[in-house]
Amino acid sequence: MSVSVVILAAGQGTRMKSRLPKVLHEISGKPMLFHAIEAAQNISDDITVVLFHEASMIEGKIKDNYLNINFHIQDAINFPGTGGAMMGVITKHKKTLILNGDMPLVTNNALHKLIDDDSDITMSVIELLDPSGYGRVIIENSEVKHIVEQKDCSEEQLKTKSVNAGVYCIKSSLLQKYIPTLKNNNAQKEYYLTDIIEMAVQDNLYVKPIYVDEEEFKGVNSKLDLSHAQEIMQARIRSHWMTEGVAMRLPRTIYIDCRATFEGECIIENGVSIIGNCVIKNSHIKTGSVVENSTVENSDIGPMARIRPDSSIIDTHIGNFVEIKKSNLNGVKAGHLSYIGDASVDEGTNIGAGTITCNYDGKTKYQTIIGKNVFIGSDSQLVAPVTIPDDVMIAAGTTVTKCPNSGDLVLSRTPQKSIANFFYKFFGIKK
Ligand code: UD1
Ligand code: MG
Repeated sequence: MSVSVVILAAGQGTRMKSRLPKVLHEISGKPMLFHAIEAAQNISDDITVVLFHEASMIEGKIKDNYLNINFHIQDAINFPGTGGAMMGVITKHKKTLILNGDMPLVTNNALHKLIDDDSDITMSVIELLDPSGYGRVIIENSEVKHIVEQKDCSEEQLKTKSVNAGVYCIKSSLLQKYIPTLKNNNAQKEYYLTDIIEMAVQDNLYVKPIYVDEEEFKGVNSKLDLSHAQEIMQARIRSHWMTEGVAMRLPRTIYIDCRATFEGECIIENGVSIIGNCVIKNSHIKTGSVVENSTVENSDIGPMARIRPDSSIIDTHIGNFVEIKKSNLNGVKAGHLSYIGDASVDEGTNIGAGTITCNYDGKTKYQTIIGKNVFIGSDSQLVAPVTIPDDVMIAAGTTVTKCPNSGDLVLSRTPQKSIANFFYKFFGIKK
């Protein structure tokens, strides 16, 4: 891997209208900067992220997730702009690829088009019907002559449909030569990285335009852009898993996190969200269900069920309106309207409709342990901490507070009584 990568991520991203720095906004479960870092890791062992706005927070988040990333803090007060961002950055390899941190859709194939070429500089160009917002690229005889930012364009230049996608691969020695000489005599009073193109042309170097797909090089500047990028990435994730054998009903209504994985034969119905680090194996997730950071194996979930983080659902049937949190269920049936939290439930156990584990006393969360072949009648409450051993029957409507013995029937109902003819008297009905 003989290319270094610099990812520009110092900008505030004011157009996002958010307190969260732009590059930390998530797409399919990961900050967009992380998508750029992963694309860089596939091609380089020398990656530098340039930061300024919220630098320490972003640096911390990167270090929590990735090893061996270099950081460079831009002096954005005195040297604002993409050229200012490159000032003082030292790279290890002969070539440097410059990427933007707000470009989460870029693929390895596309980056290879830029780095595998031996020109002095390669730069990404998109042909757009509506070029507004981008820097215009002036190309003559297949050579880039210069880049003009929209705010600096003449009437004639504004009509140019070739735009700068913002990714460049440059000989590192050229960066060391040109970057210190950048000036800020332009409409925005910023140091433009793009000015190095004209410097290279004046030195008779060849700047080659590499035509790339807008879909991959789209910069995210607003929440509208973020939602478009999300849709593009979701379509890619779904296509990938469908190719791997996952059946999807109305795929466009399904959300799948980029960290989720599927194995074996799975069916995902419409309106399902698979969030976080899920592993779904040989299972059927029905309409409107949500599974988050959990494992689901040989099971069916929903419709309208919610599996919250840190759960493991194996050989189990989960029906409608069941919520599971931080629990292990193995060989269980929970068909309707239950809350199972901080619990473990073993093989052959049936959880009746409306069963609730009362896991929280207002201060602390407690565990409920349920053994094998336990039959829990409808509308029961299991007040944690509590352990139900194997082979127990709990009558409908029971509040369990003590640990029973195997073989017991547990019941805590108030004895039923009837007052004859009360109904008729109350409503004044003569019988
Ligand atoms: C830049 C290009 C423009 C191109 C467009 C493509 C320049 C001068 N212009 O414009 O030709 O069409 O990208 O998307 O380069 N950044 C810093 N430090 C700064 C300013 C920006 O690190 O002081 C980072 C941002 O975090 C971002 C990237 O550089 O990741 C691009 O910055 P942005 O402000 O979006 O540049 P554009 O104005 O879009
Ligand atoms: Mg931009």
